Amino acid sequence: MDIKKRLIRTAILALVGLTIGGSIAYMQVKSEEGQVAGRGQKSKPASMPGISLGGPFTLTNHDGQTVTEKDFEDGYRLIYFGFTYCPAICPTELQKIVQVLKSMDEAEAAKIQPIFISVDPERDTVAVMKDYVGLFHPKLIGLTGTTAQIEDIKKSYKVFSAKVPTEDGSDYTVDHSSFIYFMAPENKVLGIYRMQDDVEYILKDMRDLMKNAA
Ligand code: NI
Repeated sequence: MDIKKRLIRTAILALVGLTIGGSIAYMQVKSEEGQVAGRGQKSKPASMPGISLGGPFTLTNHDGQTVTEKDFEDGYRLIYFGFTYCPAICPTELQKIVQVLKSMDEAEAAKIQPIFISVDPERDTVAVMKDYVGLFHPKLIGLTGTTAQIEDIKKSYKVFSAKVPTEDGSDYTVDHSSFIYFMAPENKVLGIYRMQDDVEYILKDMRDLMKNAA
């Protein structure tokens, strides 16, 4: 793969990420106007009241069972969108989720359901997803579906992804936005974490958010 093209794409993706992050920050400011003063985040908003993300979906879990948003709405979730062939970013971000869970005590971690949703349903079959999530954490649930089902959930979480053919055209990779969504029971978005947010930051933020929600 041509390094220059790859770098240009990475830069474009970063811009897309910034734009999405920027509009979320803007919505955050708007929705919190007149409410309690900020909680002192230095880099970004963590609480997202009033932001409409997520919604109904039908997908297939890594055991081949059909699931919907209702199967998860009783607890907290950490959701990440990616694909199993991803060489670097997806594994890094999933590893981060695992580290967050491992840093929690048992009771705390028990409240959180980690979920990995494929943006490459053609290659990420149920069997592929099962093998992949098993590499990370026994609790991690992998979700895939038809192309239409995946397009629907991408839309509702404002996830960007696009297939990119490899240089010789024999294969493809997938460029995609990278955010970890922290969802509260009943599908409310509590936080969105970016690649630059480390385990320590995410852990502290989640604890604060869960304390406030309790
Ligand atoms: Ni990836």
